[in-house]
Amino acid sequence: MRLDKFLCDTVNISRKDAKDFIKKGFVSVNGIKVTDSGFNVSEHTDSVLFKDNPVHYEKFVYYMLNKPSGVVSATTDATDVTVIDLLKQEGRNDLFPVGRLDKDTTGLLIITNDGDLSHHLTSPRHHVAKTYLTGIEHPLSPEDIKALETGVELNGDGITKPAQIKVISDLFIELTITEGMYHQVKRMLAAVGNKVISLKRLSMGSVILDESLPEGAYRRLTEAEILSLKD
Ligand code: URA
Repeated sequence: MRLDKFLCDTVNISRKDAKDFIKKGFVSVNGIKVTDSGFNVSEHTDSVLFKDNPVHYEKFVYYMLNKPSGVVSATTDATDVTVIDLLKQEGRNDLFPVGRLDKDTTGLLIITNDGDLSHHLTSPRHHVAKTYLTGIEHPLSPEDIKALETGVELNGDGITKPAQIKVISDLFIELTITEGMYHQVKRMLAAVGNKVISLKRLSMGSVILDESLPEGAYRRLTEAEILSLKD
């Protein structure tokens, strides 16, 4: 792989900074200073030093994105901007989103290249909890809350598993579900005669959206977050 890509993937800097550091002579490969960003390096066999410290290639990477509205949860799309386009600075071509959020949904989306973790988090067998701040058209009645918490019929998909509701205000609830059916939250609210006006994912499993991230921004997951997700 290119030396600049190797460097930004390993020391978590932008592609531009990696190119600058390489040009300025901060990087050596097998004991020889290399100033060409396009130099071909093997992540398995070459020994790379950055500022005289050895760097090792990271096989798996994990990010949290605060997904903005209007961006699709796909790796490529003919017409729309994708969530992966938002991470193009990372210079990786193996990233994908863990599950999907609708185009108009905002909030937490985990992006990785770790297929096993993605499978673990999205498999229906693992019941990973996802919490959504949900803006609704009308206040929920106690009966609506009970029905949503117990399970409602979604055409073609059967009855939803038990969910949790925290009422924030008349027109905002936090809904926690452990499944990931197509348009699930919107269809659940429709099943009790209501309508979702806005939807933002706040958490997935143990990972909570970092509210310091503006919409469209992302950061690496911390070691603790990665470990808790794998638990
Ligand atoms: N449920 C929905 O209806 N949409 C989403 O994006 C996520 C959950």
